[in-house]
Amino acid sequence: MKKDFLRILDLTDKELVRLLDLADAWKRRGGDRRPPTPLKGKTLAMVFQKASTRTRVSFEVGMTRLGGHALFLSPQDTQIGRGEPLKDTARVLGRYTDAIMVRTFGHSLVEEMALHSRVPIINGLTDDHHPCQILADLQTARERGKSLRKMKVGFIGDGNNVANSWVEAAHLLGFSLHVACPKGFEPSPEIMAEAETVGRGEVRIVRDPADAAAGADLLYTDVWTSMGQETENKRRMKAFKGYCVDSALLSAAKKNAIVMHCLPAHRGEEITDDVIEGPQSAVFEEAENRLYAQMAVLDTLIPH
Ligand code: CP
Ligand code: NVA
Repeated sequence: MKKDFLRILDLTDKELVRLLDLADAWKRRGGDRRPPTPLKGKTLAMVFQKASTRTRVSFEVGMTRLGGHALFLSPQDTQIGRGEPLKDTARVLGRYTDAIMVRTFGHSLVEEMALHSRVPIINGLTDDHHPCQILADLQTARERGKSLRKMKVGFIGDGNNVANSWVEAAHLLGFSLHVACPKGFEPSPEIMAEAETVGRGEVRIVRDPADAAAGADLLYTDVWTSMGQETENKRRMKAFKGYCVDSALLSAAKKNAIVMHCLPAHRGEEITDDVIEGPQSAVFEEAENRLYAQMAVLDTLIPH
């Protein structure tokens, strides 16, 4: 595997499947009284420039379970908030710690950190990618019996960071991904073009959510307004009207389809309460799997 994990395309399809297998193995060991601790004495620095519940806690708990330690670093409490560049922060943190997980705005920031850091950089979400999320999503889909090579995924809503990472996964593994979004809210054209060069998936942009949902094995959605886009909220609420995963849309998917959402969810906007709470929802297993998928990433990237 490459030194850093910044996007799904940093992996080969074999490496991706190996990570999912390792994530499953860590999950099976969940109840062990005396699990192996391969990262004993190792430290993960976690730099957060945006809010987080799942990513922060799952990385921290993951490091603990692996025998290591994680440090939460927020802009307010570090020199980052006073303007110290992330690339300098990365150079310094890399001299104390064994890996750096970062959640920030522009994707070029994590690329720059990777360039300057001697230890692995792990992307915990940027404006363009959310690769750790998609690992947990794929683990969950496979666990629920979906074929990662053949499934049809209907992504309903904003072509955001999560959607971009789904585009990369679809091409890498070869499944079909139909994204239903309003005009102007498509996944990144650059990322779509790059992912196409890996090229085995079938990625389509459609306007009607029912077209993306038709015959789908998995319906996916995410918030209409991502972190950092708060000033666009009003415009987005209008644009995304009708792009809600509700029971009518779900009935267009396969009978045994599952519903996923990376969380946090806005019930009544991109997903209804009855769907997220319903029998086809895999949302909370998906959140749980963040822990195991990231344990696999840490176990693989941090030398031991
Ligand atoms: N899905 C996800 O990344 O959640 P957090 O923002 O809570 O980390
Ligand atoms: N697209 C969302 C995902 C949050 C986990 C955001 O970037 O805010």
